[in-house]
Amino acid sequence: MSSNADLTLWDRHHHWHAFTQMAEYEPLVIERAEGVWLIDVEGNRYLDGVSSLWCNLFGHGHPRIKAALREQLDQVAHSTSLGMGNRPAAQLAKRLADIAPGDLQHVFYASDGSSAVECALKMAFQYWRQCEQPRPEKTTYVALGQAYHGDTLGSASVGGIQRFHTLFEPLLFDVIRTPAPDPRSLPPDVDPSQATQYFLAQLEELLATQHLRIAAVILEPLIQGAAGMIFHPHGYLRGVRSLTERYNVLLITDEIVTGLGRTGRMFACEHEGVVPDILCLGKSLTGGYLPMAAAISTPEIYNAFLGCAASERAFHHGHTYGGNPLAAAAALATIDLLEEEQQSKQLAVEPHRLESLLKKINAHPHVGATRHLGMIGAIELTASPSTPQPYPAELRIAARVCREALRHGVWLRPLGDVLVVMPPLSITSEELDFLCQVLHDSIDLVTDEVQHDTAAKEISL
Ligand SMILES: Cc1ncc(COP(=O)(O)O)c(C=O)c1O
Repeated sequence: MSSNADLTLWDRHHHWHAFTQMAEYEPLVIERAEGVWLIDVEGNRYLDGVSSLWCNLFGHGHPRIKAALREQLDQVAHSTSLGMGNRPAAQLAKRLADIAPGDLQHVFYASDGSSAVECALKMAFQYWRQCEQPRPEKTTYVALGQAYHGDTLGSASVGGIQRFHTLFEPLLFDVIRTPAPDPRSLPPDVDPSQATQYFLAQLEELLATQHLRIAAVILEPLIQGAAGMIFHPHGYLRGVRSLTERYNVLLITDEIVTGLGRTGRMFACEHEGVVPDILCLGKSLTGGYLPMAAAISTPEIYNAFLGCAASERAFHHGHTYGGNPLAAAAALATIDLLEEEQQSKQLAVEPHRLESLLKKINAHPHVGATRHLGMIGAIELTASPSTPQPYPAELRIAARVCREALRHGVWLRPLGDVLVVMPPLSITSEELDFLCQVLHDSIDLVTDEVQHDTAAKEISL
């Protein structure tokens, strides 16, 4: 049995953590979890305020998901998807085809969100070479400014977040960029009510002149998560769909964050009645229990890959663990739970509470803005109560707030200076109240501290 001191040491020294400055990393080693609570090796409990990085839907240790996993483990833990299937992967493909919008019916499994995006990009590329009227010159993509689609080189190529992607630019392929439809970035002479038209006009300009070489437009529908929860203006997604149809370009929607109940609907696309050509899922597909992702396509796409073996029309892509039966079993249990929540209208209950709690937080003088959709909340801090003004980046204000919240039993992870609240959908009202109270108090304490430090510095000057 390893001691806690050993675990802490090994976690700091040998476990190289994702998106973490290891020189400053303070180990936090989780031993177990129940519901929305993570419990570390010392027995400290933390409310999982970001759903273990946006993927846990119904809490940890859910009896139905655990039972599905145990049952499947007694059957088979893994079999390849290259040339064979397995019971839960077949059942899951059918379930996803049933619940996905429109005629999205064909499920290609991947291991994580980034690889589902890779898969969608390559699928779109190969489609244009093999469709009824081939257009092999369609080899590029339109992606949004500040997009995030993952960290593999293809998914990073369509990404547009300076902090994550600029360093790797020499390794990435070129894409055509249209600005993120962020209403806050409108020029002063554009009325906010015209935001949708303004951003769609920019996209149309690109499509009108370059559609002959564009394979697909890829976007995160409604909300650009990693960019700091940029909320698109209403109607933008629908407008993109009609432009892609007009200019004969495929639409790939990356619902890796927004899919499966997170926005209050099963899929974000449903908010605007949109059916993409390829829809990517990941993160919460297994309820946050095992890695699994998928790119779901229409028959129009799928049929272009059919032919005899010698035709070489098959999709030349795949992952060893794609369609893993354990992950598929967890996903089936998760979709059962989601459908039950949808039927009982529970998906909308806690989001309303989150909205009103965020409104209260918004009243804090150092909160500049809050945004909210379903169980996704974002909070922006402002250095000046009178005019929205970010804190100097070197203060790492949001990270400090999260550190303070951790001391009071809430685990959060910011996006730059944006605080994110994205707890499991199963969080109770009391737990949500606790989360938001700790967050409010942590904002209060840290912004107060910063103000005192600044005042002290001014006096000593
Ligand atoms: C919108 C979006 N797409 C893709 C990904 C990549 O998923 P993964 O981290 O599972 O590779 C993420 C991860 O946060 C994401 O936010």
